[in-house]
Amino acid sequence: MSIFQKLFKKETTQMSSSKVNLAVIYYSSNGTNFQLAQWAAEGGLQAGADVKILKVPETAPQSVIDGSPSWKAHLEATKHIPTVSLADLEWADAIIFSMPTRFGNLPAQMKQFIDTTGGLWAQGKTVNKVVSAMTSAQNPNAGQEQTILQLYTSMYHWGAIVAAPGFTDPSVFVAGGNPYGTSVTVDQNGAMKEDVRAAAEHQAKRTVSVARSVKNGLEQDKEVK
Ligand SMILES: Cc1cc2nc3c(=O)[nH]c(=O)nc-3n(C[C@H](O)[C@H](O)[C@H](O)COP(=O)(O)O)c2cc1C
Repeated sequence: MSIFQKLFKKETTQMSSSKVNLAVIYYSSNGTNFQLAQWAAEGGLQAGADVKILKVPETAPQSVIDGSPSWKAHLEATKHIPTVSLADLEWADAIIFSMPTRFGNLPAQMKQFIDTTGGLWAQGKTVNKVVSAMTSAQNPNAGQEQTILQLYTSMYHWGAIVAAPGFTDPSVFVAGGNPYGTSVTVDQNGAMKEDVRAAAEHQAKRTVSVARSVKNGLEQDKEVK
């Protein structure tokens, strides 16, 4: 870098603003988290990101799926959604995860996918991803917050930067006030009880905005070195 570039670095670097790649990675048996993922994707697009909606592989035995007509129907209806790959993770600057609560925890399908990322992690390729998470459950007090926090535990191991929504927008209160990530309660028929669309969109916009700042900052750091 020339002395001229060093002196005027601030002016030149402020002009560059990288496009953010957002991966919305979900697991869903009955469609709720697929819907949350789609709302998050819309928010990401509104924030100017390149967006991919990706599902994690189904790992439940076929005999169990066959015993649930709604589960079977959902898998059939989402056949066209691409399955997430490790290359998608490398591509992503920002990631939003969405998955249902299972006995107060992550579904095994999502955990199984996260457990395939050891190779990327070992190469430092999970570091500085900007992430946040959403969930759903049948009860408001039976694991929504816990599920998101369990996901974030793995993200700290990744060296990722968690961009939880906090109370940064009125939509968080409308959605039920979960500052860790958008969460929704579903009834027996899978109908959502809270209106969380705006919160999911806001969470995605915020995640993209933080990712953009991180990406630009890291690129400026590289230019200084
Ligand atoms: C095995 C299993 C465990 C579940 N555990 C919980 C739970 O701990 N708390 C809760 O409120 N709902 C629980 N549920 C309900 C699911 O969270 C709910 O069906 C899910 O959020 C719907 O999301 P989906 O439509 O994306 O599949 C459980 C459902 C299943 C099948």
